[in-house]
Amino acid sequence: MYTSKITGLGYYVPENVVTNDDLAKLMDTSDAWIQERTGIQERRHIKKGDGNSTSVMAVKASKIALERSNLEPDSIDMIVFATLSPDMYFPGGGVEVQEMMGMRTIPALDVRNQCSGFIYALSVADQFIKTGMYKNILVIGSENHSGGLDFSDRGRSVSVIFGDGAGAAVVSRNETGAGGILSTHLHSEGKHKNELALQGPSTRHWVPEIIAENPQENIPYYPVMNGQFVFKHAVVRFTEVIQEGLQANNLGLEDIDLLIPHQANLRIAQFIQQKLRLTDDQVFNNIQKYGNTTAASIPIALTEAWEAGKIKEGDLVVLAAFGSGFTWGSAIIRW
Ligand code: UT7
Repeated sequence: MYTSKITGLGYYVPENVVTNDDLAKLMDTSDAWIQERTGIQERRHIKKGDGNSTSVMAVKASKIALERSNLEPDSIDMIVFATLSPDMYFPGGGVEVQEMMGMRTIPALDVRNQCSGFIYALSVADQFIKTGMYKNILVIGSENHSGGLDFSDRGRSVSVIFGDGAGAAVVSRNETGAGGILSTHLHSEGKHKNELALQGPSTRHWVPEIIAENPQENIPYYPVMNGQFVFKHAVVRFTEVIQEGLQANNLGLEDIDLLIPHQANLRIAQFIQQKLRLTDDQVFNNIQKYGNTTAASIPIALTEAWEAGKIKEGDLVVLAAFGSGFTWGSAIIRW
């Protein structure tokens, strides 16, 4: 059986920086509240007319990842694209990337697992490479949140958290056989689906029904989140799935060179770090600059950590995520 490894990484975030003070001009919030509860100082938002969309950002990140893996678009055998904010309801973003990058008529798979999307997508890519079916797979996480958030007081507990951006990884057959993706671990618990959700427009809450049945103050086409409930489950599931991954490989917490948790909330990441007794050097966070970019947060952080020289050959890198669904997962990687 083959193994896979990440051979190229890239990310893109829109130029438009939105500070907490900028948000405080739109809604009843403050820099102090946002920083204290989330650690976020600023995030990026697509600006009308800047040409960006979920797929366009995905392509920008992918081009960098491909260049770093020394591959041409023609060498990619499959696209796996994780997003909760595709440009269109259907088709998904995968085919848009295939078109914009001028790729062959390769398969384009869309993954719908929100904050865990990148881990799910990475796992899918890993399986296709392990079986020998494909050699090079482009794995993407990209989100355009800003277009669909409620920036009035009503939406403040959700809207201050999320930001836009994209990250991409080229996952290739590991020709040397050493290291690579050691294992991935995926979970779900659908009974909590309504705790963090965007319920409509959808076939359950179709547009005419939404307009007819909902007064202005209760619009279900904005995301809703039971913040404290999500927070409590997140810290438990994050720690469980990190330990599950380590145990599966006979590794311990002390073996982790770098943990990159999905950038949900800095307080969640700090809680996990404390619970697992990891040092500051063992955990990478960048939510302060970008907010929570859902499926894009791990590949953006992974790329930044790699660019900063924080990931060296032979390092044990652990990725972990939790979010809407609920879904959660981890990936254990020997770099
Ligand atoms: O990406 C993966 C999934 N998402 C997460 O992991 C997010 C998990 N949850 C969280 O990060 C936190 O629960 C939040 C950051 C969303 C909220 O923080 P919290 O400490 O749980 O605050 P809270 O929801 O309990 O609200 C506390 C107070 C409330 O006021 P009262 O009722 O005490 O008067 C809120 O109305 O803070 C108020 N509040 C705000 N105040 C200023 C809520 N949002 C804001 C805001 N600015 N943006």
